[in-house]
Amino acid sequence: MVFKIIPLDSRSHIRSSFCCGKESLDTYIRKQASQDLKKRVSTVFVLIDDPEVNVLAYYTLSSYTVNIAALEENFAKQLPRYPVLPATLLGRLAVDNAQKGKRFGELLLIDALKKSLDAAMQVASLAVIAEALDERALSFYIKYGFKQFNQEPMKLYLPMKSIEELMVGSAKEAMD
Ligand SMILES: CC(C)(COP(=O)(O)OP(=O)(O)OC[C@H]1O[C@@H](n2cnc3c(N)ncnc32)[C@H](O)[C@@H]1OP(=O)(O)O)[C@@H](O)C(=O)NCCC(=O)NCCS
Repeated sequence: MVFKIIPLDSRSHIRSSFCCGKESLDTYIRKQASQDLKKRVSTVFVLIDDPEVNVLAYYTLSSYTVNIAALEENFAKQLPRYPVLPATLLGRLAVDNAQKGKRFGELLLIDALKKSLDAAMQVASLAVIAEALDERALSFYIKYGFKQFNQEPMKLYLPMKSIEELMVGSAKEAMD
């Protein structure tokens, strides 16, 4: 058996019993995700233990825009003064209760950041945005370097430049 992060296949992936403790995230993967995927509202990636097809964890990505005034001054001052700027939304990230504490949250977050960076080479995006549902989720994202928006502390961003540095750093570490 091997852990794989792959696009949701609504015909084969089992998600009816997915439970992460947040009802909105459970309902989303059970009932809404395949529609969003079909309508190209967001991409949905799931973690499975191949050849098993139970969804152990998932995340979603989509295009987004941010208002420059919402960003921290030090970051904003390096940016052109367009009213809105392009970004990538990590809309949801959830791990099934039975799988928590196995670093799957971290694994999926890093995978989402890597995919966002790759996509930003083709279609520009200045940061990955995440929305925390509670204080615990907030501290999870802050742990990985996300910064809170000025007026909306449950909304966070990680500049693409920081993601690039993170990926280059870990690639170097892997070679040493
Ligand atoms: C937040 C969540 C994705 C973390 O997944 P996980 O697989 O349990 O976490 P990991 O095993 O990868 O842990 C990675 C690190 O984050 C920390 N962490 C895990 N869950 C955390 C939480 N809820 N709050 C704060 N820190 C958390 C771990 O202690 C670990 O830190 P360490 O390196 O200092 O030990 C998971 O708890 C979850 O699905 N929560 C409910 C849904 C949610 O709130 N999603 C985020 C907002 S959309």
